[in-house]
Amino acid sequence: MSTPILPTDQPPLLHHAVEEAVRLLQAGDVVALPTETVYGLAADALNPQAVAKIFEVKERPTFDPLIVHLADIKMLDLVADIPEEVKKTVARLIERYWPGPLTLLLPKKPCVPDLVTAGLPTVAVRISSHPIFKRVATALNRPIAAPSANRFGAISPTSASAVLAELGGRIPLIVDGGACLHGLESTIIKVTPATPKNLITIVRPGPVTPEDLKLYGRLERMTRTVVDGASEAPGQLASHYAPRTPLRLLSKPSDFTPEEGKRYALMSYRGEEKDGYLDLADFEQVMILSPGNGKLPEAAVRFFYVLRELDKLGVDEIIAEPMLEHGMGVAMMDKLRRASVRPA
Ligand code: TXA
Ligand code: MG
Repeated sequence: MSTPILPTDQPPLLHHAVEEAVRLLQAGDVVALPTETVYGLAADALNPQAVAKIFEVKERPTFDPLIVHLADIKMLDLVADIPEEVKKTVARLIERYWPGPLTLLLPKKPCVPDLVTAGLPTVAVRISSHPIFKRVATALNRPIAAPSANRFGAISPTSASAVLAELGGRIPLIVDGGACLHGLESTIIKVTPATPKNLITIVRPGPVTPEDLKLYGRLERMTRTVVDGASEAPGQLASHYAPRTPLRLLSKPSDFTPEEGKRYALMSYRGEEKDGYLDLADFEQVMILSPGNGKLPEAAVRFFYVLRELDKLGVDEIIAEPMLEHGMGVAMMDKLRRASVRPA
C-alpha cells in the first residue's frame, strides 16, 4: 500500500485533504490526522471493523483501549454518561479544557464497541482543538477513535514524516498539519466522588498539569505500573515510548561514566555546561530540548522529535538528563522512566 502525505498549507489543499480523510473514514478505513498533542491514527469509533484496523496497523494488543474524539460537546451524550455526583466537577473541567489536551474517563454508553474500550465499563473521551482534526470530525459527524499514530510501544509521532516512519506502507493517508502544538499526549484523568472535594486521578500526565488540575479537586497520581494484561490504565505499561536504542535516565551527573569503546548520545534538557551533564568528549551527539533557559513547554514540543532523532544514530546508549518534575516536566519524566525500562 502506498501512503500519500497530503499537505494542507493552502485552502484548496486543505479542502482536498479533509475530503479524502472523510471519504476513507466513511469507507471504514484508517487515516493519520494531526491533533494539538500528537498525530492520531483515526477510524470511525462506532464501526468495529474500522476500529479493528487500528489495532492491526499498530500491532496493538486488544487489551489496550482507545481514546474517542468528539466533534463537539453535543456528541458526549452519545458515547458516555456523567455520574450525577461528579457532574459539576466534570462540567467545570470541560468548560476550561475542551477542546484541548484533556481526556476524561467516563462510564460508556452501549453504542461504543467493546473493542474501543477493551471491554472496560469506561470510555476515554476528548475533543481535539486542532483545526484540521475538527474539520474532519465535524464533516464525518461521528466520534473518532484515535490512538497515537505509532507502532505499539514506540515513540509517538509529532510530524507527518514521523508518522510515515512508523506506519508508512500500512495506511492509505497521512494528513500533514505540520508540527504538533504540545508535542505530548493528552492528560488522562478520572474523577471520583469524594467529600469535601471530588478526587481527580491522573492516569497519564500530559499538557494539562497537576498544578492546573488541583484547582478542580483533590489530586491523586496513579503510580501503579502495569506489566501485563488488562487493567484500569492498560496503556501505562512499564515499557513504553521506547526508542530501539537503550535509554538511561540519570538523576545526577555522577551517575554516568562512559565505558571504553561505547558510543553515547545525550538528550540534554537545556544544554547548560554548568548543569554538569554536558561533557562534549563523552557524546557522539548532543540534542538540546530547550536551549537557553530550559522552558518545559518548549522541551515538550521537541521531546519525541529529539528522542526519534537520537534513536536513528545507532549509538550504544541514549543518556537523558533529568528535568524539573513540575508542569509538563511531570509527563516527560514519566515517559523517560518508561522508556528506560527495556522490553522483556
Ligand atoms: O493526545 C492523545 O491522547 C493522543 C491523540 C491522538 O489524541 N492519543 C493517544 O492515544 O495518546 P493512545 O491510544 O496512544 O493512548 C491512550 C491511552 C491508552 O494507552 C489507554 O491506556 C488509555 O488511553 N485509555 C483509553 N481508554 C481507557 C479506559 N477506558 N480506561 C483507562 N485508560 C484508558
Ligand atoms: Mg500511544
